[in-house]
Amino acid sequence: MKVFLNKKIPQIGIDILKSNQLDIIVPENESPTQEEWLENCKKADIILNVGKNKFDKNFFDTCSNIKAISLFSVGFDQVDITEANRRKIPVGNTPDVLSRATSDIAFLLMQMVSRKASYNIDKVKSGNWKGFDALEELGQELYGKTLGILGLGRIGFEMAEKCKKAFGMKIIYHNRSHNEQAEKDLGATYVSFDELIQKSDIISIHANYTPDQAGIFDRETFGKMKPNLIFINTARGGFQNEEDLLEALKSGKIWGAGLDVTNPEPMEQNNPLLQLPNVCVLPHIGSATAEARNGMSKIAAENIVAFSKNQPMPNCVNP
Ligand code: DGY
Repeated sequence: MKVFLNKKIPQIGIDILKSNQLDIIVPENESPTQEEWLENCKKADIILNVGKNKFDKNFFDTCSNIKAISLFSVGFDQVDITEANRRKIPVGNTPDVLSRATSDIAFLLMQMVSRKASYNIDKVKSGNWKGFDALEELGQELYGKTLGILGLGRIGFEMAEKCKKAFGMKIIYHNRSHNEQAEKDLGATYVSFDELIQKSDIISIHANYTPDQAGIFDRETFGKMKPNLIFINTARGGFQNEEDLLEALKSGKIWGAGLDVTNPEPMEQNNPLLQLPNVCVLPHIGSATAEARNGMSKIAAENIVAFSKNQPMPNCVNP
């Protein structure tokens, strides 16, 4: 079977594919156009996809040769799962191995924003730091604060656990269903979405993104938050309405924001969010550790190998 791999991945995954006699097709051009990408997809049986290519109805109509998709990510929002189901195309993802790395980035962003670290680093680099000042650049401490998690799955659990251990935080969460382990181990309390946004001092998003959640963090939502609220997003940029976030940050409706994900990606260099002292933006590096990426490479390849042997993918998001 032929596997189309659109971008380089850690060697471990390549070795697994090759040792299972799978042919790997790679693009001639490092940054293929949409047409070139589709042309390569047409030559393959299976896709191993890195990045945000869209697998929508148009893709499935155009590439009716595709029998399986293995995503190099835990998120699968770029795939129209209903279409994949209709055509009985399994879609694999890479959960667990990146939970620690991604929650580390949420934890890092929370601390950076609480102390305006990004802005203060720039201040030193640009020569604008004029010396110690007892009243300038005061941050807020995180001890004993309330952390609100939207989407308490594996990554959310790791973030909540770190915050509880490091800062004795109270954990509240909103999820599709109750997370009994988090309630038992972390004393986490299930709340409605409205309670989450009104009671939290920090909100960290760890939910799977679906189109009905586009812009749920908007003017109205930010308007109900506490003024010391730190907004952290390491999930998908689509959750926030960026204009409304900008307004909430500028007007002091909320304290600050730490974003590892934006909409679009990459964020435009002249995006006004980047000029604000209370914002820290990272370039979607949640899973960017050698450990996590090796794990993702292994799982993505193992999903393909299983499929090629007529076995269920070990990590599959659809029936
Ligand atoms: C994921 O695994 O979903 C990361 O966000 C990378 O896309």
